[in-house]
This record gives sequence, structure tokens and C-alpha cells, in this order.
Amino acid sequence: MASPLKCLLGSESSYTKSFQIFLDYSTEHQCMYEFIDTILSDHLSSIGNGKSVLNVLGIGSGKGQIDLRILSYLKLKHPGVSINNEVMDPNEEHLKSYRELVAKTPHLENISFTWNRMTASEYKDKLDKETEARKFDFIHMIQMLYYVEDPDEVIKYFHGLLAQNGKLLIIIVSGNSGWERLWTEYKSQLCCTNSSIYITSDYIMKTLDTFGLKYQHFDIPSTFNITECFGANNEIGDLMLDFLTEIVNFRATAPPDLRDHVLALLRHPDCTLEKDGKFLFNNTLTAIIVES
Ligand SMILES: C[S@@+](CC[C@H](N)C(=O)[O-])C[C@H]1O[C@@H](n2cnc3c(N)ncnc32)[C@H](O)[C@@H]1O
Repeated sequence: MASPLKCLLGSESSYTKSFQIFLDYSTEHQCMYEFIDTILSDHLSSIGNGKSVLNVLGIGSGKGQIDLRILSYLKLKHPGVSINNEVMDPNEEHLKSYRELVAKTPHLENISFTWNRMTASEYKDKLDKETEARKFDFIHMIQMLYYVEDPDEVIKYFHGLLAQNGKLLIIIVSGNSGWERLWTEYKSQLCCTNSSIYITSDYIMKTLDTFGLKYQHFDIPSTFNITECFGANNEIGDLMLDFLTEIVNFRATAPPDLRDHVLALLRHPDCTLEKDGKFLFNNTLTAIIVES
């Protein structure tokens, strides 16, 4: 029998709404900024081989906040260099917000933006049709590998597009996070058609090892305040639950047993720290910097 549960990614507006709630109630972007400022910035110095133009590719860029932080450091580390920044994301609402952010951000001179409203595999098809082979000095896949059909193939293909001294940055939820605990226990019942949706850094690092790629990894502590999930008739809590399970309207459409077990696990110390009356879900991320 077909499952009544509907995958969140299949509905662009539901996805956009619950992702925004996740950003509003988590330290996700704040801790990524800290990672970029303190660790990634140094790694950006060595890319480019002294060229006067840097080619950058953002895969699943969302609304562009993280991309612009990275670009600001690329400018700082490579003064006077021009940057071609290719943006790729299938979500129209996200791309619109990214464009608006670019329009109101100062000091982006020397950076050109090319907008690609497409998935990673559509972008691959586009490049495959081009006559001249492309190379990129920096490619990032930030919190998006859950949404591709075959993450291994995506990593392999895009890593193959790195220029000499280029780097690939992957950020994904950590194997030590609450996500790992939640998904290990319930992924078979949450049942999105795309089986790669519930992956963590442990899976990605095994893949990189299999490919024999050289990388460094960094854990980035982060929390998601999910207290609202435990209130009744609470739209914010419902959107949080949708994002955690990757299911649209999980509270209303999941079988009651599954819903109750997921809610119980979300309160459990394995996933969540209870502090000052707040429930802080362990949203630890792992950043992986892969060499060309
Ligand atoms: C969790 S958001 C992360 C956005 C951004 N990187 C950030 O960290 O703020 C995931 C993004 O991946 C995009 N996405 C979904 N499926 C994709 C695919 N097959 N290829 C590329 N991007 C995809 C979504 O539209 C969304 O903008």
C-alpha cells in the first residue's frame, strides 16, 4: 500500500517555509559563519594558483547568505581578482531571495553571478553539452546532499571539475548529531522515496575514503530549539516537525504511534539537551574540505 506520508521536498512552498523556521530557531547559519571566519577563510587562500579570475560553483545555494560570506573571504584573500560565481538551486523562491540579497549587499564589485534554476543532475547535463570543459577553483555543497538521488555520483562528478589547487566544501549533519539518532531509528518508516535523504557525515566520509580522496573534517557544534514541537496546535512546532522528518504535515498525517515515538525520541537526551525549560536538539554539523 502506498504510504500516506508526503516528502517535504516535493512541495516547494512547504519546504521553503519549514526551512526558514529551522533557520530562525537554530544556530545553523551563525555557526557556519564562525566556521567560515575562523577555519575556511585560511583554506581559501591557497586556491586559484595566482590566476586573475576565480571560478566558484554553489550547489544548492538556497537564499545565498552563506555563499556571500564565502565570497567576501575570497575577495579578501585574493584582492583584485575577478570572481565568476555560478549559483545553482532548483527552488525559485530561494533564488529570488538570493538575487534580492545580492542587490542590497555592498562591495560585490568584481563578482559576476550566473543563475541556474536547476538540480545538480540537470546542471551536470548542461555542462556535458558544453563544448569547452569547465573547471572550478571552489565548489560547495552546503546542507544539500540529502536531496540528490545519488550523492556518491554527485561528489565524484563535481570533484572531477576542480581546477588544480581547487577545493570542494561539503557541510552536512554530523554522525554525532540528533539527526543521526532520529533517522537511524525511523528512516524506514519516514519513507521518502529518495533513500539518500537521511544521510550524515559518516556516510559521506566513507564515500570519500572509497574514492581515495584527501580531506579534512571539522565538527561544528549547533543546536535547534525545538521546544515549540511539544506545544499543542502550534504551527511553528508543526513546521519544525516537518523539517526534522522531511515529511509534509507530519503531526497530522503520520500514524499516531509513529508520531508519538518520534516526539518521545526528540525529547530524549540522545537527541536533545533540556536546558532552562528549552529543548535544544543536537544539530552538530560536519564541514569537510576535500582537496582536488
Ligand atoms: C537545506 S537548504 C541549504 C541551502 C543553503 N546551502 C544553506 O545552507 O543555507 C537545501 C537547498 O538544496 C536545494 N536542492 C534541493 N534539491 C537539490 C538538487 N537536486 N540539486 C541542487 N540543489 C538542491 C534546495 O532547493 C535548498 O535550497
